[in-house]
This record gives sequence, structure tokens and C-alpha cells, in this order.
Amino acid sequence: MSGFLVFLVCFLAFLSPLDCKEKGLVPDGDLLVLTVATQETDGFRRFLRSAKHFNYTVKVLGRGETWEGGDYMSPPGGGQKVRLLKSALEEIQEENRVILFVDSYDVVFSSGPKELLKKFQQAKHRVVFSAETLIWPDRHLEDKHPHVREGKRFLGSGGFIGYAPNLKKMLSEWSGADSDSDQLFFTKIYINAEKRKSLNITLDNKCRLFQNLHGALDEVVLKFEDGRVRARNLIYDTLPVIIHGNGPTKLQINYLGNYIPNLWTFETGCTFCKEDPRPLSGLQKTEFPVVVIGIFIQQPTPFVSAFFERLFNLKYPKNRLKLFIYNKEYHHDRHVRSFLESHESEYQAVKLISPEEEIDPVAARNIAFDTCRDDIDCEFFFSIDVDVVIKNEDTLGILIELNKPFVAPMLTKPGRLWTNFWGALSADGFYARSEDYVDIVQGQRVGLWNVPYVSHIFLVKADALRTDLKEPDLFESATLDPDMAFCSKLRNKLLLIVVFVRLQGIFMFVTNMDTFGRVLSTDNYQTNHLHNDLWQIFENPVEWEERYIHPNYSKIMKEDFVEMPCPDVYWFPILTELACDHFVEEMENFGQWSGGGNADTRIQGGYENVPTIDIHMNQVGYEKEWHKLLLDYIAPITEKMFPGYYTRAQFDLAFVVRYKPDEQPSLRPHHDASTFTINIALNRVGTDFQGGGCRFLRYNCSITSPRKGWAFMHPGRLTHYHEGLPVTEGVRYIAVSFVDP
Ligand SMILES: *[C@@H]1O[C@H](CO)[C@@H](O)[C@H](O)[C@H]1NC(C)=O
Ligand SMILES: *[C@@H]1O[C@H](CO)[C@@H](O)[C@H](O)[C@H]1NC(C)=O
Ligand SMILES: *[C@@H]1O[C@H](CO)[C@@H](O)[C@H](O)[C@H]1NC(C)=O
Ligand SMILES: *[C@@H]1O[C@H](CO)[C@@H](O)[C@H](O)[C@H]1NC(C)=O
Repeated sequence: MSGFLVFLVCFLAFLSPLDCKEKGLVPDGDLLVLTVATQETDGFRRFLRSAKHFNYTVKVLGRGETWEGGDYMSPPGGGQKVRLLKSALEEIQEENRVILFVDSYDVVFSSGPKELLKKFQQAKHRVVFSAETLIWPDRHLEDKHPHVREGKRFLGSGGFIGYAPNLKKMLSEWSGADSDSDQLFFTKIYINAEKRKSLNITLDNKCRLFQNLHGALDEVVLKFEDGRVRARNLIYDTLPVIIHGNGPTKLQINYLGNYIPNLWTFETGCTFCKEDPRPLSGLQKTEFPVVVIGIFIQQPTPFVSAFFERLFNLKYPKNRLKLFIYNKEYHHDRHVRSFLESHESEYQAVKLISPEEEIDPVAARNIAFDTCRDDIDCEFFFSIDVDVVIKNEDTLGILIELNKPFVAPMLTKPGRLWTNFWGALSADGFYARSEDYVDIVQGQRVGLWNVPYVSHIFLVKADALRTDLKEPDLFESATLDPDMAFCSKLRNKLLLIVVFVRLQGIFMFVTNMDTFGRVLSTDNYQTNHLHNDLWQIFENPVEWEERYIHPNYSKIMKEDFVEMPCPDVYWFPILTELACDHFVEEMENFGQWSGGGNADTRIQGGYENVPTIDIHMNQVGYEKEWHKLLLDYIAPITEKMFPGYYTRAQFDLAFVVRYKPDEQPSLRPHHDASTFTINIALNRVGTDFQGGGCRFLRYNCSITSPRKGWAFMHPGRLTHYHEGLPVTEGVRYIAVSFVDP
């Protein structure tokens, strides 16, 4: 049997060989666990972690061999497993040695060797196979199976336990090919009454030892005990020792495997999250792993400039970052270019795919992967869609330190039960809510979660891209969206060369151990304005506020932050400088300033008593948004300053006024048609213009140094007769609203 390799491993990757010796190979009543694994997948690591937790002694067969045993979707296979097992058993001489054989990629231990052995003894047979509800692969054999009064009737070959001599004898019958079905082989022995008796075989009908999940999803729930988690079979009221996600139940074992045996408990939280980290602290800047960051602009998206500002602010040495920017939208060209003009040289490399190249998004993602794959320096690929708002500047470092082939930060949408991962999938592959979803989203359960779907942002190791993920068309699918196609390939179809029994892909971990940020809504995003982000007050209110509402605005309600420069004239910060600039630029871009005459078709009656050079908010389609701004940000202050007065922030007139020496420098004394007026300075005295200001005649009180982004609020009539002071140089802009006319 050339090329046959048996690696004797005590909890491979966990214990040194010395530890193995010290422990001895046969603790707990001569039990030895045998499993076949040709590759160290995430599933295999999960299996070993659970085995280690209970101190099982595990011997791994087949490492270094190429798997040829078929997979679940294709015709029956698994013969290679039997061959390896047969050969391994030949070396075992002890009569009373108990052997547990299990698959590994989709198996976790839920309890320890003592309990397993006890239950094995209680079964009163020399060989016990796991049982299944569904017969496979040959339905015609159904009648040949012994009847059972209660429990599962059919044999499952993914797990069995028995005395070495009996198993040896059973396997001596094997002469099949590697691609033959192991399940059929064992089934034929079992349904042969004579062999069943002489080998002394029974099935674990009630899942006392083995829980196969195929056909049994409704039977199994998590059971949280003090500091540990196991699975309970609700039908037989048993606590199976070995949980096997056989057949198409990979997602279920992934879910259960997030907890069992102790990965996450109420008492301890996550116990494996810090396992085997890749620390970055202490590294010289030049020692940081090189990361290719793929940035994808696939549709008109709000706040793209803000995205690049945050990208720039990520705490990571820029000369260890290579940017791959894919932009499909002409509209965003200026945002990308303005970022690159300022910062391109700081990054190790930048590759840009512009809209005129007409590359479709799926191809772009594949090219992006290639950029990392083909670059020997690349250690990680960090994929970010441009609608992601990374609030945590340490995000990249945190993800790298977790040291997983694939990991994503959990992102949310404000005020909604939405995340960039799904906890479960529906039968047709779309979103379904897992039992723990809400707890994870709301942070009641914090940890690292193996989930079936992740989108918008993830970090993947370049090694994974070069091996398991080297398929060139990971995002392509005839039926699925690219993101779903990608996740499906990660979950299922990757291990093209080396596969084992149930194809077990790369685990998609999502972490909620830190807060990372959120995802913007791209719904209803119009691109017909200059600064379309101004219109986002409804769709993305949180981002809008961060961008456009003055950072000190929040102090107004808490502290005494409002000034009163003249009697009953309140003065407070409201807009950021950026908001002011955007309003001014938007109005200038629109350009249809009124003539400043008394005749004005824009208003009711067509006559303006005190005309200004202005543009109304409704002329640029900003009426609803302005009303929302007044309602959300001005009304609370009005009610604080004028107690007992409640406003619904209604207005007929809200506009931006332009004062210019050679156009209209000032405004004669007047009352406003409002209960109160809001007057926001949109640019800066001394730099943008000279002169200007406002004078309240009754109090002989002038405010001559308005502050950009600050608002005046004053009664409109009777007491606050006022005038606009002349602008002597430059251009002055103010945003005026006559509230509750
Ligand atoms: C496993 O072995 C270690 C060291 O011998 C021991 O401390 C630990 O309690 C054991 N774990 C279990 C679950 O028996
Ligand atoms: C199986 O073995 C057990 C104990 O080893 C024995 O008690 C039992 O009678 C055997 N059953 C059969 C059917 O041989
Ligand atoms: C906010 O107020 C503090 C004083 O309370 C001041 O130092 C700071 O500059 C203000 N921030 C801005 C952006 O104006
Ligand atoms: C108004 O105030 C200015 C200085 O602030 C003063 O020179 C002027 O005399 C005052 N006018 C009246 C009518 O009180």
C-alpha cells in the first residue's frame, strides 16, 4: 500500500509530541478515536478542538493522501475511508481496545470518553453504529433492515464504535475501490442477519451516542448547562455524545458547532476567540503583513468621500497596503480621483478600474482576487464595498489578529434588525433567522460566529485564495447573486482536488467582539444634484447627522451652550462647515438667483415686500429635507428657549440669500412673516466677505461677526424689527427660514 500515510496525532496542532507521550495513548479504558482527514480544514480544526477539550486520543488517517472517495452530491463514495481504516486496524493488537471511528470535518464531540464508553457498554453489543432516519444510498434495502420498536432504523457509516477485533473482522471483508460506498458496504453487513450476529452489531437507534443531523434537524436543540453546551435530542430525550452534520446539514452543524462543547457559554462567553492569534503589536511598520484592499463602487452610493476619508484613517501602515479600486459609476469618478490626488503616493500601490473600462462587477471582484493571488507579497485580501461605514479605525488590525482564513466584522444598519451576515439560510438559500441571531446582533452574545452568509466586507487570507479559493469565477452563478454565489462556493464547492466525504468549505466567521460600523442604505439615492448627500437626511440619518450637523450641536440640550447676543436672539451651532459649503455650492450650481425685485412669481400673491437675491429650498427640491432638518434639530431648541411654545416647524419660505456689494449688499429694516426666524451663516466673515451682519433696531443691537454654521433664532414680528447690514467685500450667504408664518 504505497503512498499510505498514517499520521499519529494527539490533538494535532494543539499538543507537542511530548504531551502525547506523557498522556499515554490509551486513557479512559483503551479508547482510541480514528478519523480520516486529508486536509486541515476549518471543520477539522473544530473537530480537534472539541476532541482536545475532552481529552480524546485521536489518530488521523490519510493526511497527505488525495481524497478520491467522492462527495455527498455525487454518487456514493467513501471507500478510501474504509481502506485506510482497515489498514490502520491491522496494526492494532490489543483485544480490549475500543475504537471509535468518526468523520471529522462535520463532527463535534459534545461529551467525553467516559460517558461515551459507559453508553457503549450499556448498548450491550460489540459494535454500535450510528443510526439514521433516512435510508441511503440504496432504498431497495429498506425491507431487509431489522424492525425497531422505537428509534431510527437505518445505519449511518459516519460514526461507529466497537472492539478492535470485531471491527477488524468486519473490515477484512473490504475489497472495494476507493470510490465505492462505505455506507453501502457496512449496510450490507448489517442487514445480513448472520454477520450482524457474529460481529455483534447494533444501531444506536435513540441517539444516545451518535446524533446524525440529516433528517433530524427538528429533533435537536442546544442545551446550555453550567459552563458547557451540548445537544439534546427532543424525541428520545437523549444527550448524544457525537454530533454529526451529515448530508446537507452542514449549516446546522456549523450553528451547533458555534457552541458545543464550550465555544460559547453564558458563563464564559467565547472561549476560542483568542485562540492562535496573529499579534501585530510590537511589529515594526515594515513587518506588517501586506494587504490588498479591494474597494468596490458598483452603484450610486451616498457619502463616498466620507468612505475614502475613513479608509485613509484606518490605523495600518499605508506602505503595507495596496489598493484595488473598482468604480463602475461615472458619478463617483471625482470622489475617487480627489482621494487619489491627495493620497495615492502614500500607499504601496494603487490600481484603479474606472467606469470607462466597462468591466462588470463580477469580473472586477475576480480581478481583485487575482491582484492578491498573483502578488507574492500579499498576505491578506480585505474586501470592502463602498456603502460600508467603518467607524472603527482598528478594524483591519483586529481582523488580522483573529488569524482565520475568512473573517468579517459584523455591521448593522441603524434602527433596523439588519446585518451583513445571515445566521441561517432558508431552503432556497436566502435569508433565514437563526435562533441566536437577535442576541448576536444586539450584543447579548459576543464572539466569533461561523455563519452561512456574509457580505459587504471581509478579510480572507491570500493562502486561501491561492489554494482552496483558486477557482477563477468565485462570484459567478447562473442563478445566484454574486455575493450569494461566493458564499455558496465558500461553504460547499471549494475543495476541488482534495475533498472528503462531505465537502466542507471555509468557515465564514463573523465577529461582534468589537463595534465596527454600519452599512449605508443606497435606496433612493439620486445623482441629479451636485451634493446629493445633502438629500440623505431621510435615508441615512445617522451618517447625515455626522456629516452635516455641527459637532457641538449635541451640547446645546445638555449644557448652556446657547448664546444670546441680543435680547431674545438665540445663537447656537447647527451645521458643519461642510454642510455650509455644500449648501452654497449647491445653490450656485443651480444658479437661478432671484432678481431682487418686488415681483416674485415663486410666492403666493406674487409680491415680495422686502426682496432679496435668493433661491428657495423648493427650487432645488430640498423642501421636505429642510423641514425635517427644522423639525429634528431646530424645534427642540425652540421649545427649550421659548418654553410653552410648540412648533411643527412649518414654513412657506426657506431660502439661501446672497449678499454682494455690487448686487444686493444689505436689506432694509423689516419684520419677518414668521413666528420665529432661523438665520444660518453659511460662510465666514473676514475671509469670505467683509461687513455684513444683522441689527435689531428696537434694541440697537448688532451682530457683526456671525459664525459659519451657527444659527440665529429670533421672533419674527413686533419686537424684532431688523435689517441686514451691508456687505462691503466678497459674497455672503445665509440660509433663512420663516417658521410658523
Ligand atoms: C483533560 O486533561 C487535562 C490534563 O490532564 C485535565 O486538566 C482536564 O481536566 C481534562 N479534561 C477533561 C474534560 O477531562
Ligand atoms: C453481543 O455481545 C454481548 C456482550 O458482549 C452479549 O451479551 C450479547 O449476547 C451479544 N449479542 C449477540 C446477538 O450475540
Ligand atoms: C466645540 O466647543 C468647544 C468648546 O466647548 C470648542 O473648543 C470647539 O472648538 C468647538 N468645536 C467646533 C467644531 O467648533
Ligand atoms: C446705538 O449704538 C451705537 C453703538 O453701539 C451708538 O453709537 C448709538 O448712539 C446707539 N443709538 C441709539 C439710538 O441709541
